[in-house]
Amino acid sequence: MRKFNTEGGRPLPAINLNVDKTVFNRAYLPYLNTRTRYNIFYGGAGSGKSRFLAMKLTLDLLKRPKTKLLVVRQTFASIRDSVYAEFLDVFDMFQITDHLIISKSTLNIEFPNGSTIIFKGGDDETKLLSISGVDLCWVEEAFQISYDLWSQLKLRLRGGGQKKQFFLSFNPISALHWLKKEFFDNPLDDVTICHTTYKDNRFLDDEYIRSIEEMETRDPVKYAVYALGKWGVMGRKVFENWAVESFKVSELMKENNAMEMAVGMDFGYVSDPSTLICSLVDVANRKLYIFDELYEHGLLNNELARRVIDMGYAKERIVADSAERKSIDELRGYGLRKIQPAAKGAGSILTGIQYVQQFDIIVHPDCEHTINELENYSYKKDKQTGKYTNQPSDNFNHLIDALRYSLEPFRTNNRLTTLPSNLFGI
Ligand SMILES: Nc1ncnc2c1ncn2[C@@H]1O[C@H](COP(=O)(O)OP(=O)(O)OP(=O)(O)O)[C@@H](O)[C@H]1O
Ligand SMILES: [Mg+2]
Repeated sequence: MRKFNTEGGRPLPAINLNVDKTVFNRAYLPYLNTRTRYNIFYGGAGSGKSRFLAMKLTLDLLKRPKTKLLVVRQTFASIRDSVYAEFLDVFDMFQITDHLIISKSTLNIEFPNGSTIIFKGGDDETKLLSISGVDLCWVEEAFQISYDLWSQLKLRLRGGGQKKQFFLSFNPISALHWLKKEFFDNPLDDVTICHTTYKDNRFLDDEYIRSIEEMETRDPVKYAVYALGKWGVMGRKVFENWAVESFKVSELMKENNAMEMAVGMDFGYVSDPSTLICSLVDVANRKLYIFDELYEHGLLNNELARRVIDMGYAKERIVADSAERKSIDELRGYGLRKIQPAAKGAGSILTGIQYVQQFDIIVHPDCEHTINELENYSYKKDKQTGKYTNQPSDNFNHLIDALRYSLEPFRTNNRLTTLPSNLFGI
């Protein structure tokens, strides 16, 4: 049994906190007092990484007065329901909620000893990087953070008397990611690595465990990453022609009046998500700016239409998977007036991919699922020769298929305009 007493700060009654070791999963106990600058928590899904870090960092803040913890996730919108909620659960569990000042609007949390937690999204870089005096920084779902942003964060947490520490948590989705190079291949100095899987988490219910174990037969590639916590070996990426950068749609439209909207949709239901992807295209200069996405499981067609209407794209031309003519007709009935089927045909996937490969693609950092798919969409390997084929794997392609559909009208128009004029007898 350990006892933590807070000191200093405002004259509130001292918190007498009794935290028994048994509240932790055993695999994490060696990391309670880690002293290294970089601390990596990676592995399978549901392994207890996020919960452990919320508990450990809360204890650190209680033990060390006036400590500032910055929690970063790629989108600010995703913070409230994930990592912020995780902290609130931990405060309840430790029975300290009444001693804290919690701002529901800014999500700032103040401890009686002057320690604080601030939550920021990687999507507002200016705000994020303007925060000073940070002692501890937790980058949650670090896989979604660009290397650029990570480099900036590293620079910001330099100097100061007390030792500054980073905590990064993530699933090792692709071995091609900067996280692998940074902490595993040519590791920085002063790193601690903690690897866990669902087997290390005794708090999971049977249903969750079953859903993880089922992946073994249904989707071995995902099983390796999400159940075993192994680095995803997704092979050769289909798209290398993209980067994550912030931009404003209104400014792009102002600067370049050749920009056109491209909206594509792919259908899913229970096991696959329904998706929508929106970009601005400058066909002549082969520039493509992806700025919005929908990625959601379990939507009926009326719900899917409602989402698209709420996102503001009811009036746009939406090019959708032609295999689902009935869904397309239904969605039209639900208000997506200009939805149309993509022309499919022999070789349409490869032709479509080759067309997308011709563009310089800029992805807005908010489009986290698109980034994930672009990172992982890969060519299949020939089992006999071990060589890559030119066929993409049927995985990580829900938004990418939608993107391909959305560009189809441009591709077909374009082919006409670039045909040599003598073909037309001119
Ligand atoms: N020490 C704990 N006490 C109580 N519940 C826990 C504990 N550790 C984990 N859990 C529960 O187990 C589930 C999975 O844990 P958690 O979300 O921390 O896993 P994770 O490794 O962050 O998963 P992912 O990789 O999917 O983000 C959550 O519902 C969490 O509340
Ligand atoms: Mg987590």
